[in-house]
Amino acid sequence: MATTARFLAAVLAIAACACLPAAAAFDVPTVAFDEGFSPLFGDGNLVRAASGRTARLLLDRRSGSGFISSDYYLHGFFSASIKLPRDYTAGVVVAFYLSNGDVYEKTHDELDFEFLGSRWGGQWRVQTNVYGNGSTSRGREERYLLPFDPTLEAHRYSILWAPTHIIFYVDDTPIREVVRHPAMGGDFPAKPMAVYATIWDGSAWATEGGKYKVNYKYAPFASDFSRLSLAGCPVADPSSSSALLRLPRSGGVAGCDLLGLMTADYAVVTPQRRAAMRAFRARQMTYTVCYDAARYAAGPFPECDNSDEERRSFWAWGESRTVVMKTRGRGRRGRASRAAAGAAAARGRTGMASS
Ligand SMILES: *[C@@H]1O[C@H](CO)[C@@H](O)[C@H](O)[C@H]1NC(C)=O
Repeated sequence: MATTARFLAAVLAIAACACLPAAAAFDVPTVAFDEGFSPLFGDGNLVRAASGRTARLLLDRRSGSGFISSDYYLHGFFSASIKLPRDYTAGVVVAFYLSNGDVYEKTHDELDFEFLGSRWGGQWRVQTNVYGNGSTSRGREERYLLPFDPTLEAHRYSILWAPTHIIFYVDDTPIREVVRHPAMGGDFPAKPMAVYATIWDGSAWATEGGKYKVNYKYAPFASDFSRLSLAGCPVADPSSSSALLRLPRSGGVAGCDLLGLMTADYAVVTPQRRAAMRAFRARQMTYTVCYDAARYAAGPFPECDNSDEERRSFWAWGESRTVVMKTRGRGRRGRASRAAAGAAAARGRTGMASS
């Protein structure tokens, strides 16, 4: 009896933890903008603070804007605190992502956080994507509503990319884990990627399937990036095969410690974190490819760790039954604006509209 009671108390303690924000923040060093990043596009629409540690990305009628890491990385933990644009932001997309699309045009890898603007102020949606070796025809999107207003203060969004698994974090809560499954093959990102942050006009698809466009009456749209972290393994030449042959080792070269990365606090989904992840997904997730039998009739992807609870809430919300399929056409935009469009425009794949 006593043992059972203790066990139950422990279970309840874990469940209680899951309802609270994780207490301890990850201890990750941040870099100054110039130490780790360079402007990508948008000229004057990328505004660096005098401190050199934060940057503001603006979208106005003239242009979006973006920055890119100076290095390419093979694995790492990449993080930014982001405050999203306020008020009416339909059609606006803010993205924080890893990609090597400029190096590997046909076989690129990509890991995304995409923030999709809204007609209702703080009701932004967040989308995560995973692509490997050009798997653009096998979209692995998930979408979530945030349990806070992301326009009021900065929240931290992080991507852990290890050879064995990927974790997306919102603050200290893991919201998605992708464990590498052998059957994923090349779909698991495995080539060096750069880190990007962009803001751009996604009127064609971002908000309710493109129904609501960017309204420049509310411009400029401003997104603030701070606490930038690049805890990764930099590679000298992202297109050289020697970069891909680097083996796990504990010592590592300048700034790269793969064993350290894989055993770091943020690389481990503890039982408490798993409970927090389940709770987040049960409450906040509006779409996951893992339960979308309409789109992938052959069944879920091999890495899907499906749970009955998630599946039930997914069908209860039923976004997949009402969702509008929308093609994000390759070449719909010109070359310049394609660069500006950052993450999504170059993919030319089928995306799905949020509703
Ligand atoms: C990546 O794609 C290329 C071209 O389709 C193919 O030759 C290669 O084997 C793929 N690599 C992996 C790891 O699947």
